[in-house]
Amino acid sequence: MAVKSVFKIVVASISLCVFAGCQQGAEFDPAVHFKDKCSVCHLNSEMQRGPNLFGLNADYLALQMEKFKLGIRGTNPKNRSAELMASAKPSLPDGERLKMLSVWLSLQQRPEFVYNMKGKSNAGESLAQACLACHGQKEGHPMPALLDLEPWYLLDQLRKFKQGWRGGHQDDFGGKIMQTVVQPLSEAELKKIVLYLQSLMVLKGN
Ligand code: HEC
Ligand code: HEC
Repeated sequence: MAVKSVFKIVVASISLCVFAGCQQGAEFDPAVHFKDKCSVCHLNSEMQRGPNLFGLNADYLALQMEKFKLGIRGTNPKNRSAELMASAKPSLPDGERLKMLSVWLSLQQRPEFVYNMKGKSNAGESLAQACLACHGQKEGHPMPALLDLEPWYLLDQLRKFKQGWRGGHQDDFGGKIMQTVVQPLSEAELKKIVLYLQSLMVLKGN
């Protein structure tokens, strides 16, 4: 009798574990997670405060989420937007789920961007060639395609790399590459480059 009820309890708890385990793996829906935890800042139909994430390289997205988790991004008090993202750290999933979310984001169609930079676009063409060459490569440090980043965000991040507000952490190797890239460029040159990239986005459409 006693053996039988112990057996019952063991069987019941095993099936509960298995059931809970199954649920953990199967129940993560990246679309629902994004809508609940991220869209308020990452959809431009909402009160947008963060960049577009749709269509970016999945490895890049996963790496940046890890950086925020580890405090490699989002811990410099001067960088307010990165601190805002760091406040969402508890909503960033772990392990397989983080990968699933990154892949899901990379497969979404990016929204139509707002092209609000004004000025002549051809002046930045030669400077932008080096950017496009590196950002097109698939190996090494993962990085997003530049034409999938909104113009306002491009300029914002370029300034932050230049001021040392992004890429300053000793373990931010990708960030350090970009710090070195923007170091010799003036504010006017950064704007010219973004204007040229914006003109390519307009041509390409989405
Ligand atoms: C409170 C607003 C807010 C919420 C909520 C939020 N983010 Fe962000 N996120 C930001 C901001 C602002 C940035 C830009 C950070 C910067 O300037 O360095 C950002 C940046 C990022 C980046 C880096 C983008 C890049 O191109 O380098 C990723 C990846 C990201 N967020 C993922 C997420 C995910 C996934 C969620 C939901 C789990 C989420 N964020 C929730 C505000 C938010
Ligand atoms: C040597 C290769 C290389 C070159 C050249 C280069 N980049 Fe980058 N870029 C990177 C890497 C690597 C990252 C990822 C940084 C990280 O992990 O935070 C990056 C990140 C960025 C980001 C941040 C993207 C985001 O989603 O937050 C922007 C913006 C950017 N680069 C713009 C440019 C522009 C504009 C140029 C030309 C002036 C340029 N890059 C030239 C390697 C390069």
